[in-house]
Amino acid sequence: MAEARVAVLASGEGTNLQALLDDPTVGSSIVLVVSDRGDALALERARARGAEAVFPDPGPFPDRAAYDRALVELLRSRDVGFAVLAGFMRVLGPEVVQAFPERILNVHPALLPSFPGAHGIDDAVAWGVKVTGVTVHLVDEEMDHGPIVAQEAVPIVEGEDRDHLETRIHQTEHRLYAPAVRALVEGRVKVEGRVAHVLEEAEHE
Ligand code: GAR
Repeated sequence: MAEARVAVLASGEGTNLQALLDDPTVGSSIVLVVSDRGDALALERARARGAEAVFPDPGPFPDRAAYDRALVELLRSRDVGFAVLAGFMRVLGPEVVQAFPERILNVHPALLPSFPGAHGIDDAVAWGVKVTGVTVHLVDEEMDHGPIVAQEAVPIVEGEDRDHLETRIHQTEHRLYAPAVRALVEGRVKVEGRVAHVLEEAEHE
């Protein structure tokens, strides 16, 4: 794992990025943090840890494909092997996905395939489900769709404040994400069709 070079892509607050930076194994592999928003707190969190933080502004790019090509160039220029999405609110197109096949991970605040998209928590609450959760999955060319690497349920408590639910979901994300990133970079995620199997560390030795 020591030699893995990981980029984290984040658009917002970056609490998941922080959890990854704080993980003793994953943290030291994060060589680059990329944000599509110049004011993302995630960029500051990266700089505070001495990780390179870059804001490629989507504004001047004519379309998504051009932006995605620039992203691939940026990641390759830093010799990055894995991309980890942590609240990156842009859909990555085929340019990026094909450049890093089965090497991009995403965390989503719902139990996929339920409630994909940018509002996983609100959509689950609006639907009135009694259980929601967190999904960590490989990124393919469809949104919030690739093979599931880790998943955990979070029950919705009757009458619970939405922000409280979000906090509990974030806590679950922060616990699940680093072990999933570790499994991926250590080559312990095996994909068969649309199913991802995660080997235990002992099984892999
Ligand atoms: C997280 O809850 C993550 O699951 C979600 O954005 C939040 C980012 O929080 N991602 C998506 O909804 C992707 N579809 P953070 O910036 O504090 O890590």
